[in-house]
Amino acid sequence: MKRSLHERAKAFFINMGRKSRILKGPAILGLAFSMLLHRIFEYCRKGTKRFICAAFVLLCFMAGNSFAYPVFQEESGFVSGEDKEKMITAVPDSDIVLADEQQITYDDLEILEDEDVLEGYDDAELHGMEDADKYLLDEILDEKVEEQLSENAESESEGTQLSEDEIKEEKTKTEFSRDDWKLVLINKQHPVPENYEFTLGKIKTIKGEMQCDERIIEELLGMMQAARDEGVNLAICSPYRDLNRQEILFNRKIKAYMEKGMSYMDAYSLSSQAVTVPGASEHQIGLAIDIVSDTYLTLDEGFADTDAGKWLEEHCSEYGFILRYPKGKEYITSIEFEPWHFRYVGKEAAEIIMKEGLCLEEFWDKYL
Ligand code: DAL
Ligand code: ZN
Repeated sequence: MKRSLHERAKAFFINMGRKSRILKGPAILGLAFSMLLHRIFEYCRKGTKRFICAAFVLLCFMAGNSFAYPVFQEESGFVSGEDKEKMITAVPDSDIVLADEQQITYDDLEILEDEDVLEGYDDAELHGMEDADKYLLDEILDEKVEEQLSENAESESEGTQLSEDEIKEEKTKTEFSRDDWKLVLINKQHPVPENYEFTLGKIKTIKGEMQCDERIIEELLGMMQAARDEGVNLAICSPYRDLNRQEILFNRKIKAYMEKGMSYMDAYSLSSQAVTVPGASEHQIGLAIDIVSDTYLTLDEGFADTDAGKWLEEHCSEYGFILRYPKGKEYITSIEFEPWHFRYVGKEAAEIIMKEGLCLEEFWDKYL
């Protein structure tokens, strides 16, 4: 009688196992595999409907995966050949998770700033949001602000002055902890934790309410006041953003690039270098503030060369803020140079970060 393919395969593997001790392992594996194939084949043959259903489900699954919105896809960094060298030498034992190294060479294409992105948009709601989203110190109405600022001034003048040696000693004593809310690391590799909790503080302004983590308001206002005392009128924009707002900004950027002829994936990659992917922005935890000035309201690299940009770079750490996305660290942060984006980390860490020219990822690597 003619033997089936399955029976022949079975006999083959049994013989193989008997002939040589060395081949016993592969023979057992082969036997198990052929039996599995046989069972699957029999299962499908006996139940055509079951087979069609299973194939349909598999097809749907594959199609769904191919078109899914790639929110958590790794983004491309700004990695030039030179930057690659730096990555290898600058942080050799780093446990930092570096951004995707894929190189992008859009020679003719610049990162679109918000103003470019808005150009051509007739979405009045978005324009409205942008306009309402910048606050000068004079526009803050809250009575508490005045009280807070005068209290700060009093306590500063009353406070005992530490000698330089004492300050040094204080600093060496500082131990940093990864659990400190001020030092929480949020980036594309570390999205906002699901259980992250904080209280939003609100400050009334003539244009509406400004929101950020309530624990940083005092320092923020103190910094704005100090700048004004030196003739620099800072303007806050985009303090706290919820996930929905982050999604709007991110998708708007993608759309603008696509309208310039780019594919979705390329537009996604490039957008994520300027606007963090939704779910991974520090603005969502109320610790990041975009700051410009009354004479320079645009969020672009040029802000770094203005008086306000220079003042902030020099003094932000005195109020616990850092320049979060410095020039030259794009290969680590995977975010373009943003001289307007400041992050609260507390005075001790801020002083070290700004003095040593680190980004937050490097600070984590070195001090935590
Ligand atoms: N612009 C910064 C990177 C953000 O969107 O969080
Ligand atoms: Zn920002």
